[in-house]
Amino acid sequence: MSSEESSTAQRDRSDPNWWDARYLSGDIPWDSGVTPPEVVALVESGRVERGWALDLGCGSGVTSRYLARQSFRVVGIDFSHAALRRATIAAQAERLPCLFVRGDATHFDFARISATLVVDIGCFHSFTAEGRAAYRRALARALRPGGYYLLYSFLCDTCPTFASAAGAEPSRETPAISYGDIAAFAPEFSLRWSAHGEDRTRHSAWFLMQRA
Ligand SMILES: C[S@@+](CC[C@H](N)C(=O)[O-])C[C@H]1O[C@@H](n2cnc3c(N)ncnc32)[C@H](O)[C@@H]1O
Repeated sequence: MSSEESSTAQRDRSDPNWWDARYLSGDIPWDSGVTPPEVVALVESGRVERGWALDLGCGSGVTSRYLARQSFRVVGIDFSHAALRRATIAAQAERLPCLFVRGDATHFDFARISATLVVDIGCFHSFTAEGRAAYRRALARALRPGGYYLLYSFLCDTCPTFASAAGAEPSRETPAISYGDIAAFAPEFSLRWSAHGEDRTRHSAWFLMQRA
């Protein structure tokens, strides 16, 4: 993706109205209604202490609700009214104690929560470089030492694993991160695990990091 295409995609996605329009029209292909197996595997592994969990860019709250069912105290953050409306209605229907907050995930400040788990499924890659840096600082404050951060993100088409994917045709419409973005989480975070997605048109990966 050229830097011009990338900045256009980021500009669109930095506007809550762009996301509202997607949720209101129902054009939300990412919202499968299924908790990603990577989240389930981490929770079921027993590595993560039950406590506060943050779901950054929570959307309609599928993962937030799963974590609440697993006895986490969940705060979901999103800047789309339409997404939060869906999230709130669904959590109320199940009587789950999720707290959904409208806010900018690049500037959230939940230092006093001291979360044991933060998840971000498809939000971080939308940010500008400045937004990503601010987000990393806020994340380091919000997560307690030893806590886990699970990230799902699109990867840029110049990442080595993308180049080696046979027949890969990079998407021109979505922003993406580089390995440099992951390296920048150090030294506050250590990478514990990563897994690359199978989708060849939108190369993606999961990253599990642990707070020092
Ligand atoms: C691709 S959707 C993923 C939603 C959800 N995590 C899921 O897996 O269904 C990205 C979400 O991030 C939210 N988002 C994007 N940028 C944001 C920002 N700066 N602050 C808060 N939310 C943001 C959007 O409103 C949208 O709900």
